[in-house]
Amino acid sequence: EKGNYRHFMQKEIFEQPTVVAQTLNSYVRQADESVALPQIDFDLTAIKRITIVACGTSFYAGMVAKYWFETFARVPVDIDVASEFRYREPVLEDGGLAIFISQSGETADTLAALRHCKENGQTIAAVVNVPTSTMAREADLLLPTHAGPEIGVASTKAFTCQLAVLAAVAAHMAVKKGKMSREEEQEVVRHLLEAPACLNAALDHDDDIAAMAPLIAPARDVLYLGRGQDYPLAMEGALKLKEISYIHAEGYASGEMKHGPIALIDEAVPVIVLAPSGPLFEKTVSNMQEVSARGGKIVLISDAEGLAEAGDGCLATIEMPKVHPLIAPLVYAVPVQLLAYHVAVVKGTDVDQPRNLAKSVTVE
Ligand code: M6R
Repeated sequence: EKGNYRHFMQKEIFEQPTVVAQTLNSYVRQADESVALPQIDFDLTAIKRITIVACGTSFYAGMVAKYWFETFARVPVDIDVASEFRYREPVLEDGGLAIFISQSGETADTLAALRHCKENGQTIAAVVNVPTSTMAREADLLLPTHAGPEIGVASTKAFTCQLAVLAAVAAHMAVKKGKMSREEEQEVVRHLLEAPACLNAALDHDDDIAAMAPLIAPARDVLYLGRGQDYPLAMEGALKLKEISYIHAEGYASGEMKHGPIALIDEAVPVIVLAPSGPLFEKTVSNMQEVSARGGKIVLISDAEGLAEAGDGCLATIEMPKVHPLIAPLVYAVPVQLLAYHVAVVKGTDVDQPRNLAKSVTVE
């Protein structure tokens, strides 16, 4: 039931603080501020390489997770979309962990990749939202997200719950491998537990985002830029906008813009920049200057500090709370989801059932 909401997607966006908290409940212990996995019967310390495979939004969650596994646990991560992975003869050495991320647990390409990895001696972990799904049954290690049923075809709450699970798993692996001290683990747990409140703070900007949606709705193309962990979020933002508003959008690594897409920039192509303040911010500001110098219109999504520094002259700004980098990908998912949602509403498209798309893609 949609309750007071106009669409399932909108309801699901607003459920995120609750379902992320619910999901974290199974992965962190508040009492001693430790990370714990619901079920684990193999040696995480022996893992030398991780392969992540998924499609669509779940793939972008995997891209963020790659940063975490590499930074925290110092384990190399190979990541691919399922439809490519299967056909490229991936090198799978013994002792590898393969992680499959899927809301439905039924996506045909992801399932086929899972079976391929199983046949090739990998330990199989599945981050899935449907506990009775095929992937959940076939995995050695089931890592459930507790997002509840996701009805809208555009994935929203499943994504932030996937991120919450993957952050906890990466931290857990780091602890087991001796790459994360007890103090660092406690710090990670504290930041993860801040996520629900920060998601609420992000949701408070719903009205501002609805008010600026008419500025984006007439565009034919939109570019999303992000760096580091925000690069996958830029791609996720672009995917959401394409899916439900039918506006062509691309997500790009901020630093790659000058290697091609900058040729597209003019006053008709809005550029959405995802850039929390921090060590990478200055670099992104110079990318923004490159856009402005060519008449490009920028929507800057940042915290108060970032907006104070670079918000002037933007077409619009969206203020996010100042958050720890670990949870920034969860928090910055909210404005890109809401922006796509409100643009689609302005355009009058079928938000929950966009044309040509199915909730679960069971054909290869
Ligand atoms: O159920 P899955 O997570 O395996 O689905 C993967 C993609 O089909 C899915 O994320 C798709 O990209 C969504 N419609 C994105 O909003």
